[in-house]
Amino acid sequence: MRTPFHFDELDLYVWEGKADVLDRIARCMASFDVEVIRADGIPQPQERLKGRVGVAIISVTVIDGGGLSMASEVLQGMPVIWVAAANRDRDTRLYPAEYQHILPFDFTGAELRTLVTKLVQQLRAHDATPDRPDVLVANSECMQSLLSEVTAFADCDHNVLVHGDTGVGKERIAQQLHVGHSLYGKGPFVPVNCGAIPDGLFESHFFGHAKGSFTGAVHAHRGYFEQATGGTLFLDEIGDLPRYQQVKLLRVLEDNVVTRLGSTVPIKLDFRLVAATNCDLRELVQSGDFRADLFYRLAVIELQVPSLEARGAVDKIAIFKAVMASVMGEAHRESLHDLPYWLTDAIADMYFPGNVRQLRNLAERVGVIVRQMGAWDQTLIERALALARRMSPAPGSAPADTEPGEPASRRNWDATERNRIISALETKEWRRLETAQFLGISRKVLWEKMRKYQITNGEPGIPQPD
Ligand SMILES: Nc1ncnc2c1ncn2[C@@H]1O[C@H](COP(=O)(O)OP(=O)(O)O)[C@@H](O)[C@H]1O
Ligand SMILES: [Mg+2]
Repeated sequence: MRTPFHFDELDLYVWEGKADVLDRIARCMASFDVEVIRADGIPQPQERLKGRVGVAIISVTVIDGGGLSMASEVLQGMPVIWVAAANRDRDTRLYPAEYQHILPFDFTGAELRTLVTKLVQQLRAHDATPDRPDVLVANSECMQSLLSEVTAFADCDHNVLVHGDTGVGKERIAQQLHVGHSLYGKGPFVPVNCGAIPDGLFESHFFGHAKGSFTGAVHAHRGYFEQATGGTLFLDEIGDLPRYQQVKLLRVLEDNVVTRLGSTVPIKLDFRLVAATNCDLRELVQSGDFRADLFYRLAVIELQVPSLEARGAVDKIAIFKAVMASVMGEAHRESLHDLPYWLTDAIADMYFPGNVRQLRNLAERVGVIVRQMGAWDQTLIERALALARRMSPAPGSAPADTEPGEPASRRNWDATERNRIISALETKEWRRLETAQFLGISRKVLWEKMRKYQITNGEPGIPQPD
């Protein structure tokens, strides 16, 4: 989370063109401790703007000198106050529709200050809302290595494709890539669910539309591409995009410009693109359901978010604790240091096909129980666990031998868990107590699992309890 800023950290950048408004602005703002900077004259405004909190004031007269495109290049999501003749009809062919805050040339000091204060408050509110309401748990080795990839690739402009099952945290990883970008990270993060774009509305959603371009288009509307200017566009469930929409998307990404419906003015695009998929896009390319050219454009860098099972009990328990802590509040935080063993064992043993999302749901429920009852009420918690298990029976409750009708995900899960246990045992040189602690489960459960998966230390026979 960025630290909140004070009013005296605010810079006002003024592009005055031929309007002569800079001195007046400086006078009106004299009682506020802000810096008023003539932006027309800065040779390298990009450098200057980096990392600063600012509001731009642009006079309509910059259009004549071609200064508008220069200005929009360096704004990077900064709010803009547009100074234009009063009552002038807004003309989106002349300037971008997001310049919604308008001051007349004969603005009064009070009008200017009210508007600047409002924009600063909006910026503050935006800053006070954490980008991520809670921690990103990544204790397991596979998550650690994913996070180091994320750190390595965050601050580059290449497109990223994030793979992973539903609920594993693909969007969280995309946000992580966003905040890690030195430039686009300061702009907006615009998530778009590609599976939820109604037929026929692709253009209006992605390209936006001009006012009156079709019945019902009462206001001009910026499409997703424009909304993401200076930030990150996150295309979720990209595999759900029908083929005819894939062509349109590809064309925009190639041309890097977009034209709103009902308009002829091309708008230059500038954002970082991250896409995510829970289906195997390569397979979709093979079967002809996904365009190969679009795939290669999206998948310059590929990241794979591991399933919750692959992360193992270390992450399951840590996520469980983190979510419970956020539900129960500070007062109860202490009691979370030692979750009862029966609870950690149960969580470690449960299979969550819905991944982190499903585990979070269970943790919230248990958090509410503990907060309301003021204790680890085993009966109520067991009931919550049983409900969750009904959604996803634990592998322990199924026969060890896989049956023909058994879903592939279960067999994969068993194989993954077996490997995870073996590698933990090897790490701890087959010391069971340390391995159990490492995995966040009790010795008894470890022993049961070793028996179930017939894991022995190279010696024949069924493992015995130690
Ligand atoms: N590593 C993590 N630590 C804590 N919470 C996480 C983590 N990864 C995901 N979550 C949470 O799990 C839920 C699902 O994550 P999301 O990114 O929406 O998954 P996906 O996009 O893969 O379906 C969200 O509530 C998210 O905050
Ligand atoms: Mg998602």
